[in-house]
Amino acid sequence: MAESARVSTGIEGLDTLIDGGYPENSVIVVSGTPGTGKTIMGLQFLYDGAMKGEMGIYVSFEEEKKDIIRQAKQLGWDFDDLEKKNLIRIFSMWPSSFDEVMAKIFKCLYYKPKRLVVDSITSITYSMGQNREAFHKMVEKLKDTNLTAILTSEMLSGEKGFTRDGISEFVSDGLIILRSVEAAGEHKNLLRVEKMRSSRINKESHIYEVTDRGIELTSPPA
Ligand SMILES: Nc1ncnc2c1ncn2[C@@H]1O[C@H](COP(=O)(O)OP(=O)(O)OP(=O)(O)O)[C@@H](O)[C@H]1O
Ligand SMILES: [Mg+2]
Repeated sequence: MAESARVSTGIEGLDTLIDGGYPENSVIVVSGTPGTGKTIMGLQFLYDGAMKGEMGIYVSFEEEKKDIIRQAKQLGWDFDDLEKKNLIRIFSMWPSSFDEVMAKIFKCLYYKPKRLVVDSITSITYSMGQNREAFHKMVEKLKDTNLTAILTSEMLSGEKGFTRDGISEFVSDGLIILRSVEAAGEHKNLLRVEKMRSSRINKESHIYEVTDRGIELTSPPA
């Protein structure tokens, strides 16, 4: 068993790979190529928390709130209802500066969330000129609060490194990589846990599928 308290990822097979879940109060980067399920992984994390009475905040820099709610509904997760119950809050914004991002995120902490998803950080890290120090400050500030955060990040297929900014993978406590690969004319989604501080991890690649119930690992460890 892990020594630190764990927060479920909402994905059973993934919890098994990382000692039972994300370490409580950690900041995790989920980096993936386009359409690999980064947004769904964030929504699934918040839905899992809401079902346990843990308040979650979703901040999108990519999509309109109504589109996020629609996507969740297709997976059987009624975020409209969860918002009414104060278990979920969704915010969409198109920030023009890093300061604006920080202000928005920290305003959200007024709700005292246990879980936070920021989707995606790539536009932020680019707008601040891939400034490692500024990003580090943001992560440290999040860690001063009593929550566990997923920051999604974009990766281009064939690109070197794990994220487009080249910094978030170092500053975060955990890094999960989602990729779509083609082998013998077939497409497969692969998930790999690249790092997870204070956890014993399984670093093999695992096949996953996006189903009507969200992300499911189809090749969990024995
Ligand atoms: N109900 C569903 N059943 C099966 N597959 C689904 C379902 N809903 C979404 N998907 C699949 O999930 C993928 C999109 O997931 P998601 O939006 O989370 O990806 P993403 O990595 O955030 O994409 P982007 O790079 O555009 O931000 C789509 O490619 C779609 O094929
Ligand atoms: Mg997305």
